[in-house]
Amino acid sequence: MKPLHYIYILAGIVLSSCDSGDIQEKVYTVDETGRTVKVTARVSGLGDWDGTGFTLAAAAFTQDSKFAILQQAVSSSLADGQEVTLVLSNISSEVQTVELALTNSLRKRIVTLGTVSMADYADNTARDTVRLDMGTVDASRTGILQAGIFDRACIQCHGASGRSAAGLNLTEGHSADALIDVPSTRHEGYLRVESGNPEGSLLHLILREGGENLLSHNHTEILSSQFKSNLEEVSTFIDSWIEQLRETP
Ligand code: HEC
Repeated sequence: MKPLHYIYILAGIVLSSCDSGDIQEKVYTVDETGRTVKVTARVSGLGDWDGTGFTLAAAAFTQDSKFAILQQAVSSSLADGQEVTLVLSNISSEVQTVELALTNSLRKRIVTLGTVSMADYADNTARDTVRLDMGTVDASRTGILQAGIFDRACIQCHGASGRSAAGLNLTEGHSADALIDVPSTRHEGYLRVESGNPEGSLLHLILREGGENLLSHNHTEILSSQFKSNLEEVSTFIDSWIEQLRETP
């Protein structure tokens, strides 16, 4: 046979295999193996995490693990305030929550900003996309401290009203000013937060083991009841926030 004939035969094989229908069926099978979750947010403050190994990500967690089994990170090149959509697909049934979370380089959950519980969607078909719309997210260190910790565990007592416990307002826009280098009203000689010195700050002492009796309210218990699976990470995160205040002019 002349070389040209080989080419005709080859072309014939390629064309006929396209007709078989196998390829299309395979595509549909993939679609049905798991759910898709779409997380949208308008994010600012990501620059705080450059070079630290921490990332803001849409992350899927099973019940027993602090490590995301799947995650999609927000690109660090995102412009401040730009909207981003993170898509996690093929989420298996063992996944309990999908979260917008700060994770470390091992995908360990540090602090969570928003959560979808997959059990709430158990009745829907796997093809329905689950959405988590976070609106505007301040992902700076202070923003994550606020949304991930203070809003969740503190503002029910330390709210904005005149009856705020110890006169300490921990709501958004007020918490940093109320804490940083402000003398404690309960323990003379201490600052609520001493810039750059976690171990010397009352905030650190009341949240750590051993600080149970420093205030009339047991704050160690308050923190540990809210953050059962990531208490250590949350405490360390608070300390790292205090630590870096020294660098801020
Ligand atoms: C159940 C209510 C309650 C919750 C929740 C709570 N606190 Fe408090 N907090 C208090 C009360 C009451 C005091 C005053 C304690 C005292 O008189 O000994 C206080 C005092 C403090 C102080 C000392 C203020 C000072 O001037 O010395 C700090 C700091 C503080 N809280 C931080 C927090 C943080 C951070 C959280 C969240 C992790 C939190 N609190 C959650 C009730 C609460």
